[in-house]
Amino acid sequence: MKYALSFGALLGLGASIVFAYPSPHHRHVAQSLRRDSPGLVAASWYTGWHADDVPLANVSWSKYTHMTYSFAVTSPDVTTLTLADSDLALLPEFVSTAHANNVKALVSIGGWTGGLYYSSSVADDTNRTAFVKTVIDMATNFSLDGIDFDWEYPNNIGIGCNTMSPNDVDNFLSFLQELRADPVGSQLFLTAATPVFPWNDATGNPATNLTGFADVLDYIAIMNYDIWGPWSTTAGPNAPLNDTCASSGSKDGSAVSGVQAWNAAGIPLNQIVLGVAGYGHSFDVASSAAFPNGEDGGLASHPSFNAADQPLGDAWDSANPGPDVCGNPQGAEGDFDFWGLVVGGFLTDNGTAAPGIAYSFDECSQTPYVYNATSQVFVAYDDAQSFAAKGAFINTTGLRGFAMWETGSDFDDILIDSIRGSAGFEDPEC
Ligand SMILES: *[C@@H]1O[C@H](CO)[C@@H](O)[C@H](O)[C@H]1NC(C)=O
Ligand SMILES: *[C@@H]1O[C@H](CO)[C@@H](O)[C@H](O)[C@H]1NC(C)=O
Ligand SMILES: *[C@@H]1O[C@H](CO)[C@@H](O)[C@H](O)[C@H]1NC(C)=O
Ligand SMILES: *[C@@H]1O[C@H](CO)[C@@H](O)[C@H](O)[C@H]1NC(C)=O
Ligand SMILES: *[C@@H]1O[C@H](CO)[C@@H](O)[C@H](O)[C@H]1NC(C)=O
Ligand SMILES: *[C@@H]1O[C@H](CO)[C@@H](O)[C@H](O)[C@H]1NC(C)=O
Ligand SMILES: *[C@@H]1O[C@H](CO)[C@@H](O)[C@H](O)[C@H]1NC(C)=O
Ligand SMILES: *[C@@H]1O[C@H](CO)[C@@H](O)[C@H](O)[C@H]1NC(C)=O
Repeated sequence: MKYALSFGALLGLGASIVFAYPSPHHRHVAQSLRRDSPGLVAASWYTGWHADDVPLANVSWSKYTHMTYSFAVTSPDVTTLTLADSDLALLPEFVSTAHANNVKALVSIGGWTGGLYYSSSVADDTNRTAFVKTVIDMATNFSLDGIDFDWEYPNNIGIGCNTMSPNDVDNFLSFLQELRADPVGSQLFLTAATPVFPWNDATGNPATNLTGFADVLDYIAIMNYDIWGPWSTTAGPNAPLNDTCASSGSKDGSAVSGVQAWNAAGIPLNQIVLGVAGYGHSFDVASSAAFPNGEDGGLASHPSFNAADQPLGDAWDSANPGPDVCGNPQGAEGDFDFWGLVVGGFLTDNGTAAPGIAYSFDECSQTPYVYNATSQVFVAYDDAQSFAAKGAFINTTGLRGFAMWETGSDFDDILIDSIRGSAGFEDPEC
């Protein structure tokens, strides 16, 4: 998931690796359809560091309109972005494959581990002008259709060592306005990946007037996931559709409350894309907590868990990932991709709970849980039913579409097919 960039991402800041792609012949910026293609968005983030497991040739391109290569990482030098940990050499092929499939190719800048220097890069006029040039050079050199700004998050310490300033939101807007004023920047498809509630303004509270961003961004993708996880006080839904119905202590955000908040801050519904998760978080939960009403009474929606014993997730997780980009020790994340739940024996290969696995669909969050009582591993995730509910919400609310973290999370296209169907996309085979 989005934490996955390792410490190595920042080890390669020397000029020699900076976009060292040797071919000089990709110099034009593909014409963006930004102004004349207001259609539904079916997007996902393609992670360069999983490319061996998710070859470009295996991506279901016909089911996407936009694909975002992740991540270019900010650096202390505003003239430098690095893709060192994200298979820089694959990016040209990613772009040409997307274009051959009539899919817009974007690069995402930042991520949980890659946005340490966003704040300093946009902090004053001099740096904004330099950063505009850095971003445009990247877009031009790689023939990108657009850029996704995944700043996690303005005026927020994020992973723990972000540069930050009370003026981050204003500076971010000034930067985007300068980017849009550039002849190349005016043609780019520009998006932002956002937290579930609006970015912090200078007071440290969610901003209430973000109308300026609607003028310069094509859309925002609300990352409605990681709402509950191993850092929470209890287990809970990774990606709740709704929390209106949750108890007062459990309203930590959802698609319903997040969309409402961003829309109230001035982002039109048709410029909001719902970020959806192809993975879930695992927790070590005792049987008594998992089944408060006995084994036939279903799984609890917010059971207590043993934080000292984080289960290892699927093959993309690591028990010993080494220190994070701030130098702090970290352990297993415990994430299971949808395919990982199949491989791990929780789900059958049609995506339903396997024999011997307890399953409940939480009515409030509209998301499923599975539980192996022997291993005590409890996973809050998304499946075809929860993706169908999210697609229906996109359709009835008039949102622009969806963006899934991450392209390679799915199994047999079960998730993407479900959300496309209910959001109102046509069958690509037709
Ligand atoms: C990619 O698709 C091919 C053809 O379906 C399949 O044989 C191969 O195993 C896939 N590769 C991966 C890494 O999934
Ligand atoms: C501008 O960027 C440079 C690095 O390129 C950095 O050293 C400096 O602190 C930044 N300015 C501000 C005001 O953050
Ligand atoms: C883009 O290409 C220009 C001209 O070749 C080069 O100077 C610059 O370093 C490249 N920048 C990036 C970000 O790739
Ligand atoms: C909201 O922000 C926009 C753009 O920055 C500004 O023009 C407008 O005056 C602001 N509205 C209010 C009510 O502050
Ligand atoms: C969210 O929950 C509230 C309260 O239960 C309900 O009225 C509303 O219809 C729900 N919204 C969705 C999209 O499920
Ligand atoms: C549950 O976990 C146990 C212990 O790890 C394992 O042996 C068993 O196969 C799992 N059950 C299922 C249905 O996967
Ligand atoms: C999914 O697989 C299980 C076990 O193989 C089977 O019982 C169930 O009927 C299947 N469901 C669908 C919708 O195919
Ligand atoms: C909702 O889906 C239907 C098809 O199922 C489609 O005709 C309609 O345009 C969709 N609405 C929106 C707002 O996309």
